[in-house]
Amino acid sequence: MKAPSAIGVNQPCWCGSGQKYKKCHRDRDEEAKGARRIKPGRISPPREVPLSIPRPDYAESGKPGPGAPVDPDPVRRLARMRRACRAAAEVLAESARALRPGVTTDAIDAVCHAAYLARGGYPSTLNYRGFPKSLCTSVNEVVLHGIPDDRALEGGDIVNLDVTIYLDGLHGDCSATFAVGEIDEASQRLIRVTEEAMMLGIEAVKPGRTTRAIGRAIEAHATRHGYGVVRAFCGHGVGEQFHEDPPITHFDDPRATAVMEEGMIFTIEPMLTEGSHNVRGWADGWTVVTADGRRSAQFEHTIVVTRDGAEILTRL
Ligand code: MF3
Ligand code: CO
Ligand code: CO
Repeated sequence: MKAPSAIGVNQPCWCGSGQKYKKCHRDRDEEAKGARRIKPGRISPPREVPLSIPRPDYAESGKPGPGAPVDPDPVRRLARMRRACRAAAEVLAESARALRPGVTTDAIDAVCHAAYLARGGYPSTLNYRGFPKSLCTSVNEVVLHGIPDDRALEGGDIVNLDVTIYLDGLHGDCSATFAVGEIDEASQRLIRVTEEAMMLGIEAVKPGRTTRAIGRAIEAHATRHGYGVVRAFCGHGVGEQFHEDPPITHFDDPRATAVMEEGMIFTIEPMLTEGSHNVRGWADGWTVVTADGRRSAQFEHTIVVTRDGAEILTRL
């Protein structure tokens, strides 16, 4: 049997299973269309970090431990966190300036790597659980954790750069999605709505509320615009360790019962999808793509909960 060309996602599947199309053959049909998928490229050797730059505890082994000791002075700790997060934002901006058609994601990795070192920071992703590069580059249908390789960016691509720096014992984490050359209107809209969704998630932060409020705000905005929200990956506490509690889900999740308190520091990093929110992993163990091959965008800030809301730390 062949899939009819136009079938509503909530209509019964063409195969006669009785299930809704979106729960049944939709992902496979989209995949069969197979349009210009991103393919794995060649990955260059890990870049070197001078021994003079302090490293996180996993830098040699790949296995994250308890992290650097916590600064007993909370005011000083927040000031140090501000510096790490601002440095992350600077490195992200510097890396984005190198984007243009024809440049490989590995070349962006080189620019990013140099920018971390110039600030005395270590690229947090480098050998984190074995990740081989200094930033994540996620192109088109790649949702997150794309590994920089020898693929040249093409005009019309969208690419998320996810930058994390380990500076003075603390991690600062942020990302944004950029256009390469001229992109179509659908991709512009996806990028704009994803950034708006992140900002609405940040605006939902308030001491005393549960973290569920964040995901609820993000999902409502995505749904309003017909986009999916990736459920398989979330935001996270960040500080002495790269990934800490609490997890921050980006959809309305009844299990998100952690209560926000002044001084908590975590990321909000929604991934929105044009089609289904279902994802698949590549054999490299890292790269995550949409199951249906349609595009995905992501934005990320590290924030601190304040007395009456949130302050964005990964800001220039
Ligand atoms: N920076 C990503 C995040 O936002 C994590 C990347 S971990 C890596 O949480 F190992 F994939 F690099
Ligand atoms: Co990140
Ligand atoms: Co993060």
